[in-house]
Amino acid sequence: MNLRLMAALGAALMAGPALAAGGAEILKSQCVSCHAVEKPANTSFERLWERKGPDLYYAGSKFNKAWLEKWLQNPERIRPAGELYSRHVKGSDKEDVVDESTMTPHVKLSKADAEAVAAELMKLAAPEGMVEKGAFKGEKVSMSMGAMFFNKLRGCAACHSAKAGTGGASGPELYTAGERLQSDYIYSYIKNPQKIDPHVWMPTLNLAEPDLQRLTGYILQLSASEGK
Ligand code: HEC
Ligand code: HEC
Repeated sequence: MNLRLMAALGAALMAGPALAAGGAEILKSQCVSCHAVEKPANTSFERLWERKGPDLYYAGSKFNKAWLEKWLQNPERIRPAGELYSRHVKGSDKEDVVDESTMTPHVKLSKADAEAVAAELMKLAAPEGMVEKGAFKGEKVSMSMGAMFFNKLRGCAACHSAKAGTGGASGPELYTAGERLQSDYIYSYIKNPQKIDPHVWMPTLNLAEPDLQRLTGYILQLSASEGK
């Protein structure tokens, strides 16, 4: 037996039986190839264009923990055309057609691993000023008014679906957003998407405060009314 092989065997023996990995180890070994868990120094358009998954470095100010735990065990598609949208749509005169052959299923975790990872992700607070704490006032909004603003007046449906199978495919589905996301994150995203994700193609519409409250409330109530 040669020396190098003996050294390798020795190291393997010393490592012993695999211990249950903690959330931080799982993130490092299985997730960072596609997701940034630290604020990237490079915030260029090219990075946005080339990244393989959404940024997670502000996950603790974005997601609801219960949703994270559930989704990591059974990941279902959030962005109808994946990340990045342009890689997965076939050109068509009428509307975007998702090329399913280019979509790959998301890595799935066991219950214990999902819980460990969710706990770790919830520690990743957004940098100061990115998400406005307490911005959403929690008032109930009229669903018909909300729908009118979402679909017609503010043009959100061009990129988002408020109901499975409807609306645009270039942004995340929003009928599950209330379950997935914290209300202040939804508010802050609608107010200024580029503050959260530089260069993202959702427009900053400079909406007035009542519009921001109405759209946030509408999106939250959508999830609730879906009965999820
Ligand atoms: C091969 C690349 C890849 C790997 C590896 C990967 N992901 Fe993802 N992840 C993605 C993509 C692409 C999406 C977007 C899915 C969608 O929108 O349907 C995503 C979405 C997510 C989301 C939802 C993010 C959001 O903003 O909606 C979370 C949370 C997540 N991944 C966590 C993880 C964790 C934790 C791991 C490691 C255990 C992991 N991912 C490994 C590519 C990856
Ligand atoms: C030109 C397309 C476009 C329009 C118009 C648009 N969005 Fe978006 N939106 C996006 C994209 C792209 C993202 C984020 C992509 C990502 O995280 O992968 C996004 C993200 C969001 C998010 C965060 C969702 C999540 O799952 O992380 C919310 C909330 C949102 N948009 C609400 C709205 C509302 C409300 C309007 C109308 C005022 C609107 N958007 C108009 C493209 C659009």
